[in-house]
Amino acid sequence: MIRSVIFYFSQVVTGNTKLIAEKIAEGLSKGENRCDLIRLRKYKKDIDLIEKFNFNKYDLIGIGVPVYYFHPPYHILFELQHFPRLKNKPGFLFCTSGGNPGSTLNQMKEVLNKKEMKIIDGRDKWIGWDIHQMYANQSNSNGHYGWLKSSFGHPNENELNLARTFGQSLLKRCLDQDLEEKTDFWKKDNETAKIWSWEGIQEWFPEFTLNEEKCDKCGLCAQVCPWDAIILDPYPKWIKDCDRCYICDLKCPKNAIDCDFTSQIEYLENLMEKSK
Ligand SMILES: Cc1cc2nc3c(=O)[nH]c(=O)nc-3n(C[C@H](O)[C@H](O)[C@H](O)COP(=O)(O)O)c2cc1C
Ligand code: SF4
Ligand code: SF4
Repeated sequence: MIRSVIFYFSQVVTGNTKLIAEKIAEGLSKGENRCDLIRLRKYKKDIDLIEKFNFNKYDLIGIGVPVYYFHPPYHILFELQHFPRLKNKPGFLFCTSGGNPGSTLNQMKEVLNKKEMKIIDGRDKWIGWDIHQMYANQSNSNGHYGWLKSSFGHPNENELNLARTFGQSLLKRCLDQDLEEKTDFWKKDNETAKIWSWEGIQEWFPEFTLNEEKCDKCGLCAQVCPWDAIILDPYPKWIKDCDRCYICDLKCPKNAIDCDFTSQIEYLENLMEKSK
């Protein structure tokens, strides 16, 4: 019997990576095999969980993320640094994206190499419905956000089936005694990804301005922030640099958070015009 565990992060708005993780787990649970799923949600709690986690119970460890600006969400990269030394423990990586995963798996692999995990497989080809304020002029739903048209309806049934098959194929790879590390499935760190560094995204993306007249101090923005970057005092305050996912803004029921995406929208529209 092969016992696996998948750690994954997936946004509360779209949940694409969750769907893929569940299907991979289904594949990994074939027959007598077992797979546990662990959803990462909030930075401090996740670290607690990781530091107490009994990795020895498992034969295979999977990690799945959405792509944020050609990288893994940075808070997840920071969390991976808290994994223990996992000498020769087989692992696999996957992500969902709007179509350009950049160097996401490569960046995760670099952190996990330091933990001596043996990465046996990975996949960065799954598409997930891509929603962002930068797409406000595309597929415009309410003028506040939009989505990349080509990503609509993903992951679809075919992709979900592929995820199950991927899980089953991992079982076979795990049973192979001469299992080699797999190194050809991720893209190398690339120039586009480098521009979107942690510092780069802080500089380029808009700041958060709170409209106190609209805000009723419900705290939802702080609850959904995976990086614990918002405190209530008694109104929300953004206390540190962050992933720039803007889920706090998207989820605010009162539309009380103002982020000026004008230049980001212009940039994206130009890019789309050029790629026609
Ligand atoms: C903040 C943010 C940044 C994103 N950056 C990229 C990107 O660089 N490349 C891409 O192809 N998709 C990008 N996407 C799309 C997501 O990777 C995609 O929708 C993913 O499936 C979301 O997974 P989830 O629903 O599990 O959170 C981005 C989405 C968000 C919210
Ligand atoms: S979610 Fe909106 S209304 Fe609620 S505390 Fe945050 S900013 Fe205020
Ligand atoms: S954009 Fe908002 S929800 Fe996302 S990490 Fe930053 S503060 Fe948290």
